[in-house]
Amino acid sequence: MMDTTHLHITTWVIGLILFFVTYSMLKGGNPKAKMMHMITRLFFILIFLSGGMLISDFGVYATKMIVGLLVIAFMEMVLVRTAKRKSTGVMWTLFILSLLFVLYLGFSLPLGITIF
Ligand code: HEM
Repeated sequence: MMDTTHLHITTWVIGLILFFVTYSMLKGGNPKAKMMHMITRLFFILIFLSGGMLISDFGVYATKMIVGLLVIAFMEMVLVRTAKRKSTGVMWTLFILSLLFVLYLGFSLPLGITIF
């Protein structure tokens, strides 16, 4: 399943980059920010689909899936709240914590790269 692992890594790396690009565009009031947000959401779906394709045993991967979904949810909350000019401190903190946790889980689970 090495190819699907690479697909999954590609989608979340691009998704993370798009998240930061969209964030700065929303923050700067760029008129194209809404369009970038849509593209970013497309990658959120691709992260979920490629991750779902890696699930062979739900008992083993349930935590990985839930935390992965939380990462996506917190990125979306940061973007929506930035667009609405609301505070984002709590969402940034939750995003970073869940991201660290999901990276730890991903790299300690058996498929692909196992560094922890
Ligand atoms: C931004 C969100 C996500 C990040 C940063 C992320 C990160 C990772 C990483 C680092 C790996 C390990 C790759 C490797 O070992 O080479 C991985 C594997 C995996 N991910 Fe995700 N992931 C995310 C979202 C998701 C979601 C939403 C799902 C489920 C729908 C999911 C399911 C999986 C599964 C099943 C694996 C295989 C674990 C293994 O045995 O190595 N991920 N992910």
